[in-house]
Amino acid sequence: MAQCPVITVDGPSGAGKGTISHLLSAALGWHFLDSGALYRVTGYACVLEGVSWDDHPAVTEIARRLDVTFTTCPSGEIRVAYQGVDVSRAIRTEQGGRGASTVAAIPSVREALLARQRQFRQPPGLVADGRDMGTAVFPDAPLKFFLTASAAERAERRYKQLIAKGESVSLPRLLADIQERDARDSSRAVSPLVPAEDAIVIDSTATPIPEVFERVMQAVRQQGY
Ligand code: C5P
Repeated sequence: MAQCPVITVDGPSGAGKGTISHLLSAALGWHFLDSGALYRVTGYACVLEGVSWDDHPAVTEIARRLDVTFTTCPSGEIRVAYQGVDVSRAIRTEQGGRGASTVAAIPSVREALLARQRQFRQPPGLVADGRDMGTAVFPDAPLKFFLTASAAERAERRYKQLIAKGESVSLPRLLADIQERDARDSSRAVSPLVPAEDAIVIDSTATPIPEVFERVMQAVRQQGY
């Protein structure tokens, strides 16, 4: 039986992947996989259970039995729960990002989360957001995007988001965090952050998100979806 279609959207954090893939899944009426949330919940669960992110066997065990659920609210927002408790906000902190990228570098953790990610492939289709959706998780996806933007631009976008939420943050600190996370994500041995050979690469440094979405939709329509 032919597998139902997947569109993969990969790239570094802050490149607009989340926004674009949410818009895309809403426009197509397809399911949505936020794979980063799985790594974030794994890192967060380690903190709750007193497990060090460097204890590979214990982190892998946590990933294997991760009790995580995604619920779509009537507003379209997706809430993430760990052991039934809403952790949507708790996993989005800077520490949450560091924990995610630390545990994501452990090959057995990636392996443990692989089958779970593939279960999201359900009719009528899936939009999958992450770092290795097009290279490792859904290499047979018929349409792949890789969104990128300069680190300075991504730090600036994140800064504005956090300031709008009333948080006090430092732009140089955010930039350093982004550069550190990029380096860790790009240099790891397993599933490093690289575009799939057949991915459409879009640099959004100087392109507003609505325009990026238009380009994505053009390619999607060409594919007949
Ligand atoms: O996308 P998000 O910022 O939520 O991802 C958090 C971290 O999880 C990333 O920095 C990356 O290290 C890791 N990740 C990954 N593979 C994915 C998605 C996220 O390694 N498919």
